[in-house]
Amino acid sequence: MAAKNLLEIENLHTWFELKKYGFVTVGNVRAVDNVSFTIEKGEAISLVGESGCGKSSLAKTILGLYNPREGHINFAGTVLDSSDEEQMDWYRAKVGYVQQDPYGALPPFMTLKKILEEPMKINGIKDSEERIQRIKETMEELKLTPVDDFLSKFPHMLSGGQQQRTVIARALVLDPDLLIADEPVSMLDASVRIEILELLQKIQHERDLSVMYITHDLSTVRYFSKRIMVMYGGKIVERSPVGDLLDNPAHPYSIALLHAISEPDAENVDTYKEVPSGEPPSLLNPPEGCRFHPRCKYKIDGLCDEEIPPDFGCGMEGHQVACWLYRQEGEGIPDDS
Ligand SMILES: Nc1ncnc2c1ncn2[C@@H]1O[C@H](COP(=O)(O)OP(=O)(O)OP(=O)(O)O)[C@@H](O)[C@H]1O
Ligand SMILES: [Mg+2]
Repeated sequence: MAAKNLLEIENLHTWFELKKYGFVTVGNVRAVDNVSFTIEKGEAISLVGESGCGKSSLAKTILGLYNPREGHINFAGTVLDSSDEEQMDWYRAKVGYVQQDPYGALPPFMTLKKILEEPMKINGIKDSEERIQRIKETMEELKLTPVDDFLSKFPHMLSGGQQQRTVIARALVLDPDLLIADEPVSMLDASVRIEILELLQKIQHERDLSVMYITHDLSTVRYFSKRIMVMYGGKIVERSPVGDLLDNPAHPYSIALLHAISEPDAENVDTYKEVPSGEPPSLLNPPEGCRFHPRCKYKIDGLCDEEIPPDFGCGMEGHQVACWLYRQEGEGIPDDS
């Protein structure tokens, strides 16, 4: 493991068995299919992709909530073994998780004090003075102030933004090395969204925290991540420094995603036509070859529909794309498109 990496994911596969009548296996949903990547210490990366492409399944597999069918997770030099409970307890304390749905994530009958105290009790922090001290510091950091007023509040007494900041505080109260934030702002309105992303960015720098930020919204990735990965049909199809991907997207799917976030004004009407029609692929019976080929207007017959593309270099250093159009250096999306 490279010394600067905190997390190394290697050939991760997560499949869900689909059963009929509760016991007859009819197939496997291949939610995560051969995914590899690394996160350095103190680095933030984004994972983007449309609904159902496998983002949360990947996050939950990394968190140890799902067992991978194949592949390895190496954290701080330790290859995780899900059957080693002591090791998994150590690991879970080092990784904070911001769940996708803040409303569902907070127990309705617990005060903020109890909610934030729970992870510390589970992790054996016995000194109640220390627990309350940490709670107060984390609440200050997340701007849940005045702290003394908030401590006795229940989740329903909070605004959406305050609920989400509570979920983030709970993920940070054990001082983790890695934060996995699954759509942390998607349910909030635009002004609160920016406020929380800016706060996360500040916390990431101040704590030198590694972050995996998951979103379906490309317009938010610039906020605090330097690298971005685009997921489609259970696979990472493009990875790049953020600026290079936003300025020069390479994969036809990434190009379509970027067009989809263009401002809806009259001048952009043409770009909307670029979004490919068709459905996201079935993860139960994924298409042969590149999973995007049924929606891709640049499809090369006999190649894209037969062979899974490997990663090819394109553009800047660190920019890779799993697309056959880039199989030869200097090639890419045809000019006459
Ligand atoms: N526990 C599970 N059991 C069976 N299938 C699952 C399970 N969790 C997810 N899936 C399936 O795996 C696929 C990927 O789902 P996942 O929730 O990872 O997508 P996502 O990219 O996070 O989507 P969204 O943006 O809507 O949150 C979907 O087809 C989903 O139905
Ligand atoms: Mg999800």
